[in-house]
Amino acid sequence: MAVLPYQSSLLIPSLADLASFCEALALFLKPGDVLALDGPLGAGKTTLSQNLLRVLGVQEPVNSPTFVLMNEYTSTCCPVVHVDLYRLGPERADSLSHELTTIADEGRSLLLVEWACYGDFLQELVTIQIAIQPVWDEAEPEAPDSRGHEQRRVALAANRLLPEALRRFEVSC
Ligand SMILES: Nc1ncnc2c1ncn2[C@@H]1O[C@H](COP(=O)(O)OP(=O)(O)O)[C@@H](O)[C@H]1O
Ligand SMILES: [Mg+2]
Repeated sequence: MAVLPYQSSLLIPSLADLASFCEALALFLKPGDVLALDGPLGAGKTTLSQNLLRVLGVQEPVNSPTFVLMNEYTSTCCPVVHVDLYRLGPERADSLSHELTTIADEGRSLLLVEWACYGDFLQELVTIQIAIQPVWDEAEPEAPDSRGHEQRRVALAANRLLPEALRRFEVSC
C-alpha cells in the first residue's frame, strides 16, 4: 500500500458514536476517494458503510455486498460504489481490477471497499484507509457490558490532513 501520511488511532465507544463518526467522515470525503475498509468478520465494515450512506442521504436499504460483490447508490455527494472482496478472496479479487480502477481513475464516484486488503491492485488507489477492530473488555471478559460489545478501535490513514471533527475520536495507542 502506498503510505498514507496522515494516520490516527481512534476509538468509537458505541454504535451511537459510530453515527457521529460517520457524519464527520462524510464531510471529509470527496468524489474520487477510494475508502478501504478492513478488519475481521463482524468488525463493523458494513455497519459503518450503512451509517455513512445514510448520512450521505441514501434512503434505500444498504445491504452487505458480500454476495452481489458491488452495489451502487446515488448520494448527496456523488455516486457511491460499495464493494466487498470477501467472497472473491485474495486469489480472485483481481477480477474486479479493471472495473474498480476505471471508477477510481474517473474520479467522479466514492468507492467503499470492504476487505480491500484482498485487492493488490487497490493498494495504490486507496486515499483513505479504515481498519476496524472490536475491543473486548479485558477487565471483564466473561460478562462484557453492551457498550463493551460496541467499542471499536479504528486505525485511520488518509492522504490529507484529518479534520478536527475526526480527530476528536483520537486516543493514544
Ligand atoms: N461501534 C460499532 N461499529 C460497527 N458495528 C457495531 C458497533 N457496535 C456493534 N456493532 C455491531 O457489530 C456488527 C458488525 O457487523 P458488520 O457490519 O456486518 O461487520 P463486517 O461488515 O465487518 O463483517 C453489527 O451487528 C453491528 O450492529
Ligand atoms: Mg461486511
